[in-house]
Amino acid sequence: MSTLIANIGELVTNEPAPGRDGGPLGIVRDAAVLIEHGRVAWVCRAADAPAATAAAPHRTVATGGSAHGAPAVRDGSMNSDATRGTSEVEVVDAGGRAVIPGFVDSHTHLVFGGDRADEFSARMAGRRYEAGGIRSTVAATRAASDDELGARLAGFVGELHAQGTTTFEVKSGYGLSVADEARLVRLAGEVTDEVTFLGAHVVPAEYADAPDAYVDLVVGEMLTACAPHARWVDAFCERGAFTPEQSRRVLEAGAAAGLGIRLHGNQLGEGDGVRLAVELSAASVDHCTYLSAADIAALATSATVATLLPGVEFSTRQPYPDARRLLDAGVTVALASDCNPGSSFTSSMPFCIAVAVRDMGMTPAEAVWASTAGGAAALRRTDVGAIRPGARADLALLDAPSHVHLAYRPGVPLVARVWKEGEVIA
Ligand code: NIG
Ligand code: FE
Repeated sequence: MSTLIANIGELVTNEPAPGRDGGPLGIVRDAAVLIEHGRVAWVCRAADAPAATAAAPHRTVATGGSAHGAPAVRDGSMNSDATRGTSEVEVVDAGGRAVIPGFVDSHTHLVFGGDRADEFSARMAGRRYEAGGIRSTVAATRAASDDELGARLAGFVGELHAQGTTTFEVKSGYGLSVADEARLVRLAGEVTDEVTFLGAHVVPAEYADAPDAYVDLVVGEMLTACAPHARWVDAFCERGAFTPEQSRRVLEAGAAAGLGIRLHGNQLGEGDGVRLAVELSAASVDHCTYLSAADIAALATSATVATLLPGVEFSTRQPYPDARRLLDAGVTVALASDCNPGSSFTSSMPFCIAVAVRDMGMTPAEAVWASTAGGAAALRRTDVGAIRPGARADLALLDAPSHVHLAYRPGVPLVARVWKEGEVIA
């Protein structure tokens, strides 16, 4: 069975080409997309839909009401029952609305127990965010069974899908013992291929007086237990967590075990995180809230993506990172949720887009690109984050005429339907 999404008012492809607008968004107006075997087969203007598809037997599916007023017209031009032996085509009428690539959320911490609502309330009453809060989630995570953690994780995956996210990374980092980190990467691997080993999240309480001995454990037995289940290694390079030297040890050991490098850096103050990430050719350095001119120059000439996490500054009342400065310098910027119970308990990429546009100097087009193609770049993926022939058929139909509405209508659930590998998941 193939799926033809017809009557798309605005199709964001992230593939600029002659005749398309929206700069890097590569927008096609009055478009149609054909999905076959979980991949995008073709993208074109509706009027140019290949005759072969028009001749195939099909059934038409309407997609429900259209809040912005475009008529939900059924497209009769695809109707024909003349051709026998052609596989059936399901025609989905987008009703003139916008379709974008599924979001690629390249930074989450979704395997954990408990929550930290009290800590959030205290922060909103004036207390500062500190890395040490991670330890309370470590205690709750260690106390939870695999079934409890897995059920919680499945719930978050449902949230992600419902909000248009079709690719997501998940980090460990709330276990911080060999056995607990190993079960977190294993559980993460049940829901995504993008698993990150973050044994170097914070020094656990039992090693408080011997942080280097904890790093020995991370680069030794813990890495050996976790590397087979992970694609990436990460470290939290920050005051209150790990020094640049400790972070370097962890990242180099992870790379030697075959893992790609990503890094939490420059979240709570200026430091050496960005420099280290660029030097080690990390795929991404995440947070980038406090950057020097030298950090920006280093990023601009590197292949390292700067991943910004607006939910963190929202929920910790820190200043937002200056996305405008990074973009103007030519840095590749991604947006991600950083969904975790401490610094950013949102799973919503539309929320991150709205904040990035309102408070970080991004245009709606830049924020949508950063949440799709930017996330794919941060994960070094070429099969997701764009709607082009051969790409994985991951798409989100918006209940809106344009991608701009994701920022223009904050807090409104605009994701109407989501396809992942050609299957409807929400
Ligand atoms: O990305 N910065 C480090 N780790 C998480 C926060 C984790 C927590 O507070 O539990 C982050 O913000
Ligand atoms: Fe994080």
